[in-house]
Amino acid sequence: MLRPRIMITSFPEQMGRAAADILQDLISRKPSCVIGLATGSTPIPLYRELVRRALNGELCFGQVRTVNLDEYKGLSAAHPQSFAHFMDVNLFRHITMPPENHIIFDGLSDEPDAMFCAYEQQIEEWGGIDLQILGIGHDGHIGFNEPGSCFEKHCHEVCLTENTRLANQRFFNGLAEVPKAAFTMGIGTIMAARAILLLATGEDKAEILAKALSGPITPIVPASILQLHPNVTVVCDIAAYSKMKG
Ligand code: F6R
Repeated sequence: MLRPRIMITSFPEQMGRAAADILQDLISRKPSCVIGLATGSTPIPLYRELVRRALNGELCFGQVRTVNLDEYKGLSAAHPQSFAHFMDVNLFRHITMPPENHIIFDGLSDEPDAMFCAYEQQIEEWGGIDLQILGIGHDGHIGFNEPGSCFEKHCHEVCLTENTRLANQRFFNGLAEVPKAAFTMGIGTIMAARAILLLATGEDKAEILAKALSGPITPIVPASILQLHPNVTVVCDIAAYSKMKG
């Protein structure tokens, strides 16, 4: 098993700064780098810090390319709970980055297989993902790769589990509004990234983070596959780290 680098910070804002340092270092070394982006509550302090640095002129996204992990099936990019909208509100509208430099699944696509092929192809044409940012679900999902019987490799459609829908209903007006399916990068696409940056904050993530990083590698905990990736950095707060042993 390969050991990730673990950076423990005191609180989410500090996690955001530590993660932003890692991205800034990458962008300064490779201005046209390809960054895999995650949504959800966890990376918000990171995006806030990136925006602050971009507005200060410390960071330039002019040549950066980004590719998002996932999107709800059935939501348009304009829907307030779509991940496309999330990325716009939390990052893209504040920074200068050509729109053709970021890709995200179209939640309304009626030809998802063609979209998945185009997505994988675009990543390949860009030379692969240099750094993939990940959050972790309470059930160990990464992207929307839910616990299951096999590690699915490429971009695909998933049925969201009841747990994930319940966890995400806080963003919607009730569970009925939470989509039942999503489009996601596969575990293979994620594992092909040259480096992974896994973010976790809060006590509610402590148990699953410990399981993912030091439990058995099993599709029941999709994030446990990261133990096989040679270049993983975990940036978490003390609360999320609290159940790690050793
Ligand atoms: C979102 C994503 C998900 C989240 C996970 C944790 O793009 O890929 O895997 O990272 O559900 O979400 P939060 O951060 O809201 O706890």
